[in-house]
Amino acid sequence: MRVGVIGTGGMGTLHARHVAGSGAHTLAAVMDVDGHRAREAAATCGGCAVFSDGVELIRAAAVEAVIIASPDETHAPLALACLEAGKPVLVEKPIAPEIDTAREVVEAEVALGRRLIQVGFMRHYDPAHLDARRTLDEGTLGTLMLFRGWHRNPPPDPALSRRQVLVRAAVHDIQSARWLFGREPLWVSVVGPDPSRGIDDPSVLESITMTFEGGGVAVIEVNVSAYAYEVGMELVGDAGIVTTPLPSAPIVRADAMVRQAVDRSWTTRFVPAYRAEVEAWLADAATGTALTGPSAWDGYATLAAAAAAVRSVEEGRPVAVERIPRPDLYA
Ligand code: NAI
Repeated sequence: MRVGVIGTGGMGTLHARHVAGSGAHTLAAVMDVDGHRAREAAATCGGCAVFSDGVELIRAAAVEAVIIASPDETHAPLALACLEAGKPVLVEKPIAPEIDTAREVVEAEVALGRRLIQVGFMRHYDPAHLDARRTLDEGTLGTLMLFRGWHRNPPPDPALSRRQVLVRAAVHDIQSARWLFGREPLWVSVVGPDPSRGIDDPSVLESITMTFEGGGVAVIEVNVSAYAYEVGMELVGDAGIVTTPLPSAPIVRADAMVRQAVDRSWTTRFVPAYRAEVEAWLADAATGTALTGPSAWDGYATLAAAAAAVRSVEEGRPVAVERIPRPDLYA
């Protein structure tokens, strides 16, 4: 596939490198509102066309598939332009910052009748998450009762508000819980360690509890005041428990010492998952049939739970998740 990448900051440049290094596919074009960044990304990936307009890149004949890694508010309009052009797209999370916009994207894809959108929930491609998923699928854990997730970051600069943490960061964890339960959350409740902080105040740590259709509960820590970067989960079943390794790095015993590195950011922890994500998306796209990775519906449904999480903070109580029925396209 000949791929175009929109937004060549941290995430877009990483995706562009994975496309260029894939062997089977080509980086055809990049675009960024900062032309210098776009040219730099093109150069580090061995050269490609540089566009100054995202929609022009999407419509270009030389581009067969698109990655959107520009800021959150650009995701939905660019994804809609990809649907219009009939081109497969890997769009970074969140699919949109607002639930109504996310619903419009789902409805446009349903009207088209073809799954062309994949959302960047890369934990689906993380070996530790996949191992845990396999253990669950094999029946070793019995019935899944509890998903416990942790998502810890050193303090971001600038600080993120509680709303931003719930909509931009917690969607990864909400998606992991939906993926593992295979069902939708019904109720969401959020508490933080400092109850005086409002939804637009800086976040410290959010504890999110979700109850699921058909039973099951998820308890998720999203912590933006952590000493390092740690993402993982524990699945508690009635017959067993699986926990992803923490920290994730190998344990080294040498020089009369035991050492284990800790990650400082997503750039080290998830690089293999990002590579596998791009390769799986392109392999699907190249077949010309439906994409099979996390869908626009997953993007919408996680955001519906995140919207309930925001309301839970605003109203200080558990909130029911409101969402449209799942269209048959995503069955
Ligand atoms: P960044 O700030 O490093 O890069 C964003 C780039 O987009 C910048 O180069 C900026 O100049 C460019 N840009 C701004 N407006 C644009 C527009 N209208 N059209 C084209 N380019 C535009 O941000 P980062 O960290 O790379 O994040 C990009 C996206 O990836 C965000 O939506 C973020 O939520 C998502 N992300 C996903 C992660 C994951 O684990 N899946 C991890 C980090 C970010």
